[in-house]
Amino acid sequence: MNSSLSPNSDPISRIIPEPCSIVIFGATGDLTHRKLIPALYNLAAEGGVPSSLNVVGVARREKSNDAFRDELKISTSKFSRSPVNEEQWKSFSHSISYHRAEFHSFDGYLELAKKLTEYESTHNIPANRLFYFAVAPDQFEVILHNLKQSCLSKPQENGWTRVIIEKPFGVNLETARHLNKLVHDSFPESSTYRIDHYLGKETAQNIMVLRFANSIFESIWNSKHIHHVQITAAESLGVEGRAGYYDQAGALRDMVQNHLLQLLTLTAMEPPMSMSPDAIRDEKVKVLKSLRPIKGDSVIKHVVRAQYTEGMILNQSILGYKQETGVAQGSSTETYVALQIAIDNWRWAGVPFFVRAGKRMPHAGTEIAIVFKEVPPVLFNTMGHVLDPNVLVIRIQPDEGISFTMSAKTPGSRLHIEPVKMDFHYGTSFGKPNPEAYERLLLDAMNGDATLFARSDEVEEAWTFIDGIEEAWNISSDDLDFYPGGSWGPESADALLHKNQASWRTLSFKNTK
Ligand code: BG6
Repeated sequence: MNSSLSPNSDPISRIIPEPCSIVIFGATGDLTHRKLIPALYNLAAEGGVPSSLNVVGVARREKSNDAFRDELKISTSKFSRSPVNEEQWKSFSHSISYHRAEFHSFDGYLELAKKLTEYESTHNIPANRLFYFAVAPDQFEVILHNLKQSCLSKPQENGWTRVIIEKPFGVNLETARHLNKLVHDSFPESSTYRIDHYLGKETAQNIMVLRFANSIFESIWNSKHIHHVQITAAESLGVEGRAGYYDQAGALRDMVQNHLLQLLTLTAMEPPMSMSPDAIRDEKVKVLKSLRPIKGDSVIKHVVRAQYTEGMILNQSILGYKQETGVAQGSSTETYVALQIAIDNWRWAGVPFFVRAGKRMPHAGTEIAIVFKEVPPVLFNTMGHVLDPNVLVIRIQPDEGISFTMSAKTPGSRLHIEPVKMDFHYGTSFGKPNPEAYERLLLDAMNGDATLFARSDEVEEAWTFIDGIEEAWNISSDDLDFYPGGSWGPESADALLHKNQASWRTLSFKNTK
């Protein structure tokens, strides 16, 4: 396709990948329509994709190329971050085709291989192939097997072959190990890209820049100065028609095992030796290995789980979780989880990391808050005048940015101290919208940069930690608490922090979803 639709306004920050084919398994699914094609369209519109991009959607339904493109145009118009321009869409959509195949049918893969080879020789491009698994996990095995049998997983002489795998990557350590084995049977680790879309979010990428590109933070980024860290992912949405999956998963597996542990590792890791993918991922793995296991009796002390009941959000009444279509009767699946995590290493000894994720909260918002220790109780921080601690907040979404709260004297002849905020907003500071996470991740995979993808050992370490909690929960669900939809979670989660002389921050974001 034509990459000169509109010239890339920021050439330094974007490397245009080599020509390649992206084969999407699950082409008629939600992910393809809501995220993948809109991301590719935006990349293309900004001149960020190779001149000869070949996007092949694979799915079971009978469909012509034109019908497929028309459907994608409708969904891209709805979900793209920038409005769809007729000319740009026309040019971009030429790069898309549809391949009907049953995932278990070997012939379908042979025909796919033929199509790819034909395209590559007609357009005189290398056999660079990126396979994207946008399908339910129960399809992973059969697709991997057939890609291997049809030799599609094997790199050709003149190109590379890579695979992108969506979450959930297993449901516990055992299944993740099994899946890693299956993947490695067809693709080496260096060609495997496990998606965690939180790593593609602009502000998540900024955590390392904030820490290691500024001289003032590293010296205070430790137990000497930090009282605790809070990581929150609040959603006002419920299960949105995904009860079949969610009721089996719950908040701990759905959000903490992947997204929130990723944010925690970026916040807590040591400076990597270099910016190479493995140097960074090595440091993240060390953090995961240092997490103090929460299992057996300690689960009840350090973890709160809860489920929403009916309530109100933005003056609209909402159903309780158990009333949602597709939720099992008497389900004890948690829609909220809060954890107190200890990192047993030199830097973090004694600093609790409080992590919470919940659905049906009053507002949506994801943030990391670094709460610093109080100043000594002399001079200004005395009984009549207890000061708020300094807090550094990294807002992952919405209104991406970073703020720092400090104490300042209010104007006037009396000494009165109040917290004030220094606030950086991406939206206003850089004057351009943030790319969507999937844009960055697709681009990186095309360029062979695995930094923002989870490595096999990272996924397994995260599951090791989560399994301890799930195992205790499986024994009894007596500890399951409840909270009204539209509230900030159960009181038991507040108590978790109060025991540590802390309290949850109230997120004051606009409701976005
Ligand atoms: C997904 C979870 O991985 O992340 C969803 O499966 C959740 O349940 C979503 O809603 C949140 O992502 P984001 O980008 O909307 O914060």
